[in-house]
Amino acid sequence: EYLAKREREKLEDLEAELADEEFLFGDVELSRHERRELKYKRRVRDLAREYRAAGEQEKLEATNRYHMPEETRGQVRRSRVHFGPGPQAEGREVFRALDSALAAPFFVLPFPVGGGSDWEGGIFRLHVSFSRRGREAGPEARAPLSPQEPSGPPPPTQAQQKESIQAVRRSLPVFPFREELLAAIADHQVLIIEGETGSGKTTQIPQYLFEEGYTKKGMKIACTQPRRVAAMSVAARVAREMGVKLGNEVGYSIRFEDCTSERTVLRYMTDGMLLREFLSEPDLASYSVVMVDEAHERTLHTDILFGLIKDVARFRPELKVLVASATLDTARFSTFFDDAPVFRIPGRRFPVDIFYTKAPEADYLEACVVSVLQIHVTQPPGDILVFLTGQEEIEAACEMLQDRCRRLGSKIRELLVLPIYANLPSDMQARIFQPTPPGARKVVVATNIAETSLTIEGIIYVLDPGFCKQKRNKQPTSFQISSNQRAGRAGRVAAGKCFRLYTAWAYQHELEETTVPEIQRTSLGNVVLLLKSLGIHDLMHFDFLDPPPYETLLLALEQLYALGALNHLGELTTSGRKMAELPVDPMLSKMILASEKYSCSEEILTVAAMLSVNNSIFYRPKDKVVHADNARVNFFLPGGDHLVLLNVYTQWAESGYSSQWCYENFVQFRSMRRARDVREQLEGLLERVEVGLSSCQGDYIRVRKAITAGYFYHTARLTRSGYRTVKQQQTVFIHPNSSLFEEQPRWLLYHELVLTTKEFMRQVLEIESSWLLEVAPHYYKAKELEDPHSKKMPKKIGKTREELG
Ligand SMILES: Nc1ncnc2c1ncn2[C@@H]1O[C@H](COP(=O)(O)OP(=O)(O)O)[C@@H](O)[C@H]1O
Ligand SMILES: [Mg+2]
Repeated sequence: EYLAKREREKLEDLEAELADEEFLFGDVELSRHERRELKYKRRVRDLAREYRAAGEQEKLEATNRYHMPEETRGQVRRSRVHFGPGPQAEGREVFRALDSALAAPFFVLPFPVGGGSDWEGGIFRLHVSFSRRGREAGPEARAPLSPQEPSGPPPPTQAQQKESIQAVRRSLPVFPFREELLAAIADHQVLIIEGETGSGKTTQIPQYLFEEGYTKKGMKIACTQPRRVAAMSVAARVAREMGVKLGNEVGYSIRFEDCTSERTVLRYMTDGMLLREFLSEPDLASYSVVMVDEAHERTLHTDILFGLIKDVARFRPELKVLVASATLDTARFSTFFDDAPVFRIPGRRFPVDIFYTKAPEADYLEACVVSVLQIHVTQPPGDILVFLTGQEEIEAACEMLQDRCRRLGSKIRELLVLPIYANLPSDMQARIFQPTPPGARKVVVATNIAETSLTIEGIIYVLDPGFCKQKRNKQPTSFQISSNQRAGRAGRVAAGKCFRLYTAWAYQHELEETTVPEIQRTSLGNVVLLLKSLGIHDLMHFDFLDPPPYETLLLALEQLYALGALNHLGELTTSGRKMAELPVDPMLSKMILASEKYSCSEEILTVAAMLSVNNSIFYRPKDKVVHADNARVNFFLPGGDHLVLLNVYTQWAESGYSSQWCYENFVQFRSMRRARDVREQLEGLLERVEVGLSSCQGDYIRVRKAITAGYFYHTARLTRSGYRTVKQQQTVFIHPNSSLFEEQPRWLLYHELVLTTKEFMRQVLEIESSWLLEVAPHYYKAKELEDPHSKKMPKKIGKTREELG
């Protein structure tokens, strides 16, 4: 066993070493000795590989049990680029195989090898080849006022730091327009502000307003951000600029986290949080200014905010409304707000050279990693920003990069690999802003969070594979605009380069020009409930910037009716009002309300908190897969995944919320910490919705019934042809990671569907069909819950019944 493992590791090392060597030094003149050594290594590798090949097939099948399907729902290629012949999955495997990697055509780097590299003069032949096309010219590329040396000066003193922060503030594009801007705000109630990312909209304008006295008499300024991370980091930056403690004058509030106090007059918040403010203060009376930032992102909440704010502005003439956007699409906003004036902040930008791949990349993750190394080895100093779609992908890429850097060892300069995505804990997030040590290079691997809302100093190179994540998207979309945003991130501090992992042809022909607003592609349950509780009954005639599809709205109303939040007239019920109080999905809030009836609110709170940290509970390091899987199985409880989550949390709580416990059980500490926060927040809200604390004392049937009371909408039954959802008769599958994967219970409910290779149910719970009648008699008829298997029926009738649903 040990020997086998060791042999495997050795071989992997050897292969990786060879791959890297051939990749980096493939065509550099080798000495005779080196050549002989390489030949020998290759020979050893080939022999070993042949030996292994036989057993490989079996092993593959054995490991398939835990193979995690990759999530692609909502992960849309921004273009319809074809990935050469064959399906993508296959392409990836093939690409991974060393042979084909070595056999792949090598191209000469189309741009000169930069100075400062150790390999100046050598010709590098690399996997990914870019052709240079076009330049994003900064129209008025002024020189930076404070030229920044990449090799850092000695660490500044505190006073110097303060002065330099003020210097940066003065150097921002918005600064020369301070007076003009303030005058425009004074003159107009609604002002649309357009400016490049990094021009100072988010951090400076609220400060100007503060300095101008808009927060006198305890009035507040709200600035919304579509993303949690942006709200937090921007608030932190502004607090530093103003020399105050975060949470005092400047604070942020995001769902499940409130960093504000009585004194907080500059409030950065997610757009969803401002929406919730309307619940307690429908006219936003305590706010003097509302700034809707990053409006171009067109998130669901931002779109709803537009309608509400427009309305409030009508009867509060003293309220100032600012709509800030990074793109040229500001005319839309202006028209919507009765032709409000647009204030343009001319941007200071450096030119950005754009490179496209010559041919589409089969495996874009691999291509990204290779390109980063390529840039690192050949290009002059400057940090790299890579755009990927989500946490899992980002972590995979970081791991690959770190791995290869380690293998290359001292052959390359130091490369700091830093991830950034919304769920990353803030201390980790903060690391991307730290200056890069001299001689090293930083690569930030980010979601599109870094597209507009975050500013990372020192980025010169941007790598854009052309993918982005959109929630529940039907048609592939996206965006020249956002590719240009991404490219723009390269030209912030000096002339930059943007490498696009798609072809120039694809850019011109396959990317769509604008984003489809979220409101037109997502489920609206939450928002409809909120609007209803704000007293807006006629949703069909709500002032939408772009109205959602009629069917989506109808579906949301129907669901809320089934959950008992609306009555048959479409009016909010008492229970609907309570559901709106909880900042979670209607089904989840219904589940929490139901826990009162089944006396298990303690357990249900835990389940709700664990569900909301989203599938990042278990940790599965590559080198300890077996241990990790064992640890996971040890948490299994009969009944299903919700109880597993409950079990994990309970044991963790019993350990005294220990990080060591997490480590030993392959559980992600950060996720647990977050679950604990969420749970505390929810617990604090229980009183408002009149649910008392109670525990089921181990009677899990009660917990399962309470969950069913919220999720009876998401049920599936086992038929002869596998699982079908009860109402829609859609074919679905249990996710391989589920504790019920091998159990196949007859009836179950699921938390969500994820579309990958198939439609998978994630987080499933075994239920009894009779419970559905108990919790939702208005929704289910006894007849449709009859079990075709339990009765002896002629086959034909059974089938017809199934077909009819
Ligand atoms: N976390 C940060 N660390 C260092 N500098 C920052 C940070 N956030 C913002 N800045 C500086 O402030 C400038 C303006 O940022 P911001 O107000 O977010 O621009 P905008 O909202 O117009 O995109 C950035 O270009 C950068 O120089
Ligand atoms: Mg901004």
